[in-house]
Amino acid sequence: MSEAHNEHESLIKTPKQLIAAVIAGFLVPIVIIVLLVNYVGNNALTGAGSSAMTESAVAERIAPVAKVEVKDANAPRVYQTGEQLYKAVCAACHAAGTAGAPKVGSADWAPRIAQGYDGMLKIALAGKGAMPARGGTSPDDVTDYEIGRAIVYMANASGGKLPEPAEPAQPASGAAAASGAPAVASGADAGSAAAAAAAMASLKTATPAAASAGGNLEAGKKLYDTVCMACHASGVMNAPKFGDKAAWAPRIATGIDTLHNAAIKGLNAMPPKGGAANASDDDVKAAVDYMVSAAK
Ligand code: HEC
Ligand code: HEC
Repeated sequence: MSEAHNEHESLIKTPKQLIAAVIAGFLVPIVIIVLLVNYVGNNALTGAGSSAMTESAVAERIAPVAKVEVKDANAPRVYQTGEQLYKAVCAACHAAGTAGAPKVGSADWAPRIAQGYDGMLKIALAGKGAMPARGGTSPDDVTDYEIGRAIVYMANASGGKLPEPAEPAQPASGAAAASGAPAVASGADAGSAAAAAAAMASLKTATPAAASAGGNLEAGKKLYDTVCMACHASGVMNAPKFGDKAAWAPRIATGIDTLHNAAIKGLNAMPPKGGAANASDDDVKAAVDYMVSAAK
């Protein structure tokens, strides 16, 4: 017994050896970790190329929403097909099932299809839970007819057999002409304000986000959890990710008022109030404060 014990100890005989053994005990795992990190890092480099591709692909898909489009109000309207609108807007959530969106091609759609086209259209126009009203688009840019076509496209790609919705008669003096201004979907400007007003008019059903008065972090968290999270949790359409200091720092640097304003009026792909048009300004501000406090 004691001999075996001695033999075991005989590997380290002097304090020098002990120190060497201790140092080696630290160094070996560190070297292994460094090698592993390099290995993973190299992989991530190739991965980063393809993920950048995805981001640009996403940017491309959302381009029709984010781009400034000047339309001739008198030109006959050219409608997007269901597939075009789906790829430009709805796919951001419905392709992968982001934020609990029913995934195209999956059984998620069966109960929705069963409720009928009109029911689905109503929900898509008004928004529901994490689904922003009209998928975050403005009625100036995307008509109810086009939303309907996108629904039929998604439903039929998921086992449905819905007929194409009927094309509306071309309006002689449509809403676009009435507004007079070019349809703008970018920036915190008059166009966004108009879009916000329009979205507000179109949103009749209450989303569960209607938080109580008293704009505090609690109300902010509530609105974030029900609405803003849909995009900001995973960075859908390049939304600055919740808690991502690097993504938020340049935005925070523009001042809290700028951020409040952008969240209320919308900014490029970010719909006014995140699509929850019935949320109070105070609650939206509180949600911004909550997001900012998590990214400081
Ligand atoms: C930001 C993410 C997001 C975008 C963009 C989006 N959706 Fe959704 N959508 C959702 C979520 C989440 C649900 C599930 C809502 C629920 O049932 O609570 C949903 C549900 C739906 C439903 C099912 C409604 C029902 O009957 O229950 C339809 C139809 C729909 N979306 C259509 C669209 C269309 C059309 C577009 C593009 C114009 C679009 N969505 C864009 C997130 C999104
Ligand atoms: C449909 C997706 C979506 C939803 C829902 C959403 N956001 Fe955003 N948000 C975006 C995108 C995309 C951007 C980046 C816009 C840009 O900089 O072009 C953004 C940017 C922002 C910014 C930064 C603005 C700036 O000036 O830099 C704030 C603040 C913000 N969102 C707050 C909110 C709040 C609060 C909510 C919930 C009430 C919300 N968002 C819901 C997509 C969304």
